[in-house]
Amino acid sequence: MSRSRTRISIVQGYRATNGRPKRAGLPNLGAAGTEPAPESARTPGPFSPSWHHPTLSGLTMSEIASRLHALNQQIAELEARHDRPRGSVKLLAVSKTKPASMVAEAHAAGQTAFGENHLQDALGKLDDPRLTAAGLEWHFIGPLQSNKTRLVAERFQWLHSLDRLKVARRLDEQRPEHLAPLDVCIQVNLSGEASKSGLAPEEVPDFAGALQAFPRLRLRGLMSIPAPETDLDAQRTPFRRLREMLEELRRAGSDVDTLSMGMTADMEAAIAEGATWVRIGTALFGHRD
Ligand SMILES: Cc1ncc(COP(=O)(O)O)c(C=O)c1O
Repeated sequence: MSRSRTRISIVQGYRATNGRPKRAGLPNLGAAGTEPAPESARTPGPFSPSWHHPTLSGLTMSEIASRLHALNQQIAELEARHDRPRGSVKLLAVSKTKPASMVAEAHAAGQTAFGENHLQDALGKLDDPRLTAAGLEWHFIGPLQSNKTRLVAERFQWLHSLDRLKVARRLDEQRPEHLAPLDVCIQVNLSGEASKSGLAPEEVPDFAGALQAFPRLRLRGLMSIPAPETDLDAQRTPFRRLREMLEELRRAGSDVDTLSMGMTADMEAAIAEGATWVRIGTALFGHRD
C-alpha cells in the first residue's frame, strides 16, 4: 500500500468501522499487537491507554476521545518515522461547523487547541458555558475581514491566516493590554490559485518586516493550504517550499518557529516537511456537512 493511500484511509477507516478508530495501515505502533513500536511512539503520554481498550478509569471512552487518542498516537508515529523530535508537532483540532458539545468532549479528553474559521460560528462556542473554563486555546484559521478583527483580537490566542496589513494594524490596536501579544502566522498562497487567500511567496519577506511595527502582534511563522494532491511526494513539495521560506526568514533575523501546515489528507507530508501545527478536522470530528 502506498503511503498516500495509508493516509487517506485514516478517514475511511473511521467510516468503515462505524466510528471506531482503526489504525488503518500505520504499522509499528505496537498497540494492536503487531510489531513493536519505536520507543518514541510507545512512551506513555497523556493518552497512554491504548485505543483498542475503550475504557479509561472504568469509563467508556467517547468516540471523539478514542479518535483523539488514535490521532495523537499517529502523530507520534509520524514524528518517529520522519525523524522529528517527539512532541514537536502539535494538534490543532479544527472544530469549525461542529457544535460546542463536541469541542467539550475533545477538551475533556485532553485537547486544548481548537481552530475556527467563521466568527459567527465561533462566537457561540466562545460563549458556551461548557467551554469558558480555563485551558482552551482558540485559533482563528479562516479569512478575516478588517471590520471583524475585534473578536479575534479580544478572544483568540492565534491567527493563522494573516495576509493584509490593514488587518494587522487593527488587530494591533485592538489587542487588549492584559493579554499577551496575538500569535500570528502569515498565510502564503503557494499554488497561486486566485480563489485562495494568502500572500504570494515573494511578498512574504517585506510583509514580515512590516509586522515589526505592531508590538501587540507576535509573528510566529507561516501557514498554507496547498492545492490537493494524493501522492505523498507531490504533497510534500509545497510544504517543503514553505519550510524553506521559514528558514529564509530566520536567516534574515526573524524569530519565527512555526509552520502551520497539514490537514487530514496530507498530514504525513506536512509532518515530514517540518509542520509544527497540523490542523485536523475530519479525522477527529468526522465529515462536515
Ligand atoms: C484552514 C483550514 N485548516 C484545516 C482544516 C481541516 O481540514 P480537514 O477537515 O481536512 O482536516 C480546514 C477545514 O476546512 C481549514 O479550513
